[in-house]
Amino acid sequence: MHSPIKALTAVRDCFYQDIADRVSARVHKGNVLDIGAGRGILVLKMAEKSPGLKAYGIDISQKAIEAARAIARKAGLADSSHFDAGDVCSLPYEDEFFALVVSTFSLHHWPDATAGLNEIYRVLEPGGEAWIYDHWRDPSPEARQNLARDFGRLAAWFALFHLRFVSSVMTEERARIILNDPSLKFQEKRLEQCGIFLLLRLKKT
Ligand SMILES: C[S@@+](CC[C@H](N)C(=O)[O-])C[C@H]1O[C@@H](n2cnc3c(N)ncnc32)[C@H](O)[C@@H]1O
Repeated sequence: MHSPIKALTAVRDCFYQDIADRVSARVHKGNVLDIGAGRGILVLKMAEKSPGLKAYGIDISQKAIEAARAIARKAGLADSSHFDAGDVCSLPYEDEFFALVVSTFSLHHWPDATAGLNEIYRVLEPGGEAWIYDHWRDPSPEARQNLARDFGRLAAWFALFHLRFVSSVMTEERARIILNDPSLKFQEKRLEQCGIFLLLRLKKT
């Protein structure tokens, strides 16, 4: 694998598939939402993996949403997926509409993380979880080694270089500040490592 783009795509593809597998193991019916869905890769993986679910994606970029809808049509997944343009801080869905909400690499873009997370709380059903993944500036040595083992040293080097120098990233300190904000409505809040990424795992009880 010689191209940095191919290396990153392989790491991310595997990551999205892993999330789709976890979603499928946890939720068997109802609606799931990906926030900051971009071109909808994760939404389509969730729709493919879990035919009992309706997978929604929302993104502030109208252009990304149009691309996602076109990709869904091409993949034959237009009926099991749904895409909307919109802001995480003002979601166009009724209260308790979703069984689970996920998001990948979008949190660090939100101008008000607490407002976005509290809006996610509103649209989650009681007992529902939000899994908010983001880039992490300093993945643990073990996570780095595992990445090299699974994807090869070159791919791992590209992915880590991208994290450190190219992507805007979430630091552990910033993630803890978000989780400890007293105005955050979630009752259960945990910060976890997920390979080379960070996961804010939130639960509405
Ligand atoms: C780095 S991209 C990640 C896209 C996709 N989740 C992925 O994993 O490839 C971040 C996405 O978040 C979206 N975004 C940024 N601010 C947002 C907001 N306030 N509400 C919803 N989406 C937002 C951007 O338009 C962009 O598509």
